[in-house]
Parts: sequence; structure tokens; C-alpha cells
Amino acid sequence: MAQFQSSTCEIPNAKAIPSHIAIIMDGNGRWAKQRMLPRIAGHQRGVKSVRNTVRHCVEIGVEYLTLFAFSSENWRRPKDEVSFLMTLFYSALDREIDQIHKDNLRFRVIGDLAPFNAKLATLIKEAELRTAGNTGLTFTIAANYGGRWDILQAAKRMLNDHPELAGGFDECHLSPYLSMNYAPEPDLFIRTGGEQRISNFLLWQLAYTELYFTDTLWPDFDSTALDLAIASYQARERRFGRTSEQLLATP
Ligand code: FPP
Repeated sequence: MAQFQSSTCEIPNAKAIPSHIAIIMDGNGRWAKQRMLPRIAGHQRGVKSVRNTVRHCVEIGVEYLTLFAFSSENWRRPKDEVSFLMTLFYSALDREIDQIHKDNLRFRVIGDLAPFNAKLATLIKEAELRTAGNTGLTFTIAANYGGRWDILQAAKRMLNDHPELAGGFDECHLSPYLSMNYAPEPDLFIRTGGEQRISNFLLWQLAYTELYFTDTLWPDFDSTALDLAIASYQARERRFGRTSEQLLATP
């Protein structure tokens, strides 16, 4: 497996187009409420934004796109809404997987799939296997994912494989066990819907990610909105702990 740069161990190369974008898709419920529609209509419309975002990321050369579809805390929502989200995920994946494969995308899901029904878990595994050899954008859905869960499951698996590390270990020992071990750390994090928090998303990987928050609700998030986020990212000075002067002196 390729070893990706760790932002805390070495200074990553900052590129004009982010290699990896991670998004919290928020505001579906409010989008629906504004139109006097049930919340689920917002989620339905959100699938369209998912499709547009994937397409635009491919067009501009983003290599990894990671979307937070369902957090470990989203089980706290009303039962009907949780079950609708599961059905929506199943039907969207079932409908789109041929196109995803045709477009040479690699599809991955991160999160604890154990509580998902067997049909959905099987569809996910089949989609991952089918697209594993593709070389285009890696499209990841975080489902029943939590950043704390991820760090804990990584530590448990690492110690299971290497009990001798109980006395001490470092980043290099742990990071191969994190669920996003196949991707570089995100360059740009976007949260739609006006809230300004990380909500237990990729806690480990966001250490030096540029954060961008927009009031745009997820169903309204289009290619222009994504370009605005990227323009904001391009205006940032990514120092990774260094001073501006050091940055200017770097060839
Ligand atoms: C947050 O909006 C959104 C979610 C919890 C679900 C996101 C799901 C989708 C966009 C559609 C399905 C995804 C895939 C992968 C096909 P919210 O309900 O919290 O909105 P609110 O803050 O306005 O209430």
C-alpha cells in the first residue's frame, strides 16, 4: 500500500487543486422545510448534489472526494428518517454503480458497516470490489462513521496484530490501521449548511486541512459553489507550522 505523507511528520506538497476534498453535506432538512416539503425530500435532492460534485471534482482533477453521508450519531434521528436514508443510499448506489465504474472511479465506504442490513452491506462490498482496480477519482462515502470510532478501531487492530506495541507506538504504527489508509489527508474540508463544526468527521486526518464553511444548503451546492470553496482554499497560506518568511524562502 502506498504510504502517504503525514502532515505532522513531514511537510506535504500543497497543490493549487486540492488532491483530497472532504465534505459534510448539511442542510437537507432546512432546504426541504423552506419549501414546506418533508425532510426526506431534502435528502433526495441531496443525491443530485452528490452526483454534480463528483462530476465537477473529476473535471478539475481532484483525486479523492470523501462525503459524510451518515455519522455514528445520526442513529439518534427519528427511526423513519434513518430507515429512509438507508434505503436512499441503497437505491442511489444500485442505480449509479454502473456509471461510477464506467467513469473509472474507485468507490469506497468507510465506517462500521456491522449494523447495516445484509443487502446494503453486500451491495457496498460488491461495488468496492468491482471498482477496486479503477484509476480515476476515489469516491468515498463515510457511513456510520465517527472519527473517534476510527482511531479506536485502528488502535485495537494494531495492538491485536502487534501486542508488543502496547508499551509504546507512534503515528507510523497506527496510521496504516485507520480506515482512510488508502488516501492522503484532505487538503480542503467543506461544510455546507452554515454550521461551523467538524462533527466527529475525520478527526485524525483533518490535522492540517484547510476548513471552509458555507451557508449554502447541500441541495443547492453546485459547481459554482465548489469553485468558490476552491478559490478560498487557493488564497490560504499553508504553513504547516512554519513562518511566512520560511515559506517565502522555500523554492
Ligand atoms: C445532513 O442534512 C444530511 C444527512 C445526514 C444525510 C446526507 C445524505 C445525502 C446527501 C443523500 C444520500 C447520500 C448518498 C451517499 C447517496 P440534515 O438532515 O442534517 O439537514 P438540516 O441540518 O437542515 O436538518
